[in-house]
Amino acid sequence: MTAGGAAPIIKAENLTRTFGAMTALDHLNLEVSEGEIFALVGPDGAGKTTAMRLLCGLMNPTEGRAVVAGHDVSKNVDAVKDQIGYMAQKFGLYTDLTVTENMAFYADLFGIVGHERKVLSERLLRMTRMAPFVNRPAGKLSGGMKQKLALMCTLLHKPRVLFLDEPTNGVDPVSRRDFWAILYTLVQEGLTVLLATAYLDEAERANRVGLLHQGCLIQCAPPSVLKRDLPEACFRLTSRDNRQTRLALEHQPGVLAVQPMGMDLHLFVDLHASSPEKLRSIAEFEYQRIQPSLEDVFIALVRKQEVARAA
Ligand SMILES: Nc1ncnc2c1ncn2[C@@H]1O[C@H](COP(=O)(O)OP(=O)(O)O)[C@@H](O)[C@H]1O
Ligand SMILES: [Mg+2]
Repeated sequence: MTAGGAAPIIKAENLTRTFGAMTALDHLNLEVSEGEIFALVGPDGAGKTTAMRLLCGLMNPTEGRAVVAGHDVSKNVDAVKDQIGYMAQKFGLYTDLTVTENMAFYADLFGIVGHERKVLSERLLRMTRMAPFVNRPAGKLSGGMKQKLALMCTLLHKPRVLFLDEPTNGVDPVSRRDFWAILYTLVQEGLTVLLATAYLDEAERANRVGLLHQGCLIQCAPPSVLKRDLPEACFRLTSRDNRQTRLALEHQPGVLAVQPMGMDLHLFVDLHASSPEKLRSIAEFEYQRIQPSLEDVFIALVRKQEVARAA
């Protein structure tokens, strides 16, 4: 059960998928509530697409199960497909066909016809501000507009749950902001969104974030909680020679991570075991305590897991 008491609309129980000897997704346990935007974050190869494909019933799990919109995905994939929209990492748009023609193709696929098709299409075109471009071939649209068109095609059958795999990859920042504004509107109307992204700044816009690393969900919380609840403290260091400082500090007890960030270094340190003041006996630097970014947190959590595994 989720915070509101209602059953989650997406649920993964020990969801696992292996390919030969490699485990792409390792016992994923996850619950997403209706109306939530959940971001699955991780670098390339972390298992994001595998998780999405399993949740959408496009691939069978090796172990565990998924329940989406009240249906067991393995047992009742057709019922699930009616309720979900899946925008794949490389969504299939027909570049020679216009915006209208692409939308008509997907409407036909979902059996959306007549008055309903007209009303839904017009509404989506208004929401995405794509109405002026209906006669343009998809191949001649900008990256941001292509994404909007793909989104419209994914939404034509009024899904309750939307799966977006790296939806704003290669999209300029303004179009990205537009895309998120559309998502927020949709969510207000009750849609649930699960998106995968490699961008931590993008994940900050979600209600909750799950950090995926080598197939394992290593942390799952709202972005603000992830940044606040880490037991280690984060500092910005300035030094004359960042490389030297980093080399000197990185294997010191209590030091979880020292990472270059722009012109500075970000240091994660366990204050029970060390402190920047103590570390100044090893290297010369100035420091200032900072609120970590989600990227800092991700790096620190991955490092922590590696250290725990090595021990
Ligand atoms: N069909 C497949 N056959 C073999 N290995 C695969 C297949 N799909 C994914 N993998 C492997 O599983 C891991 C996770 O992949 P993926 O889920 O695509 O990660 P992400 O989407 O986070 O980049 C990668 O190591 C990838 O090479
Ligand atoms: Mg992927």
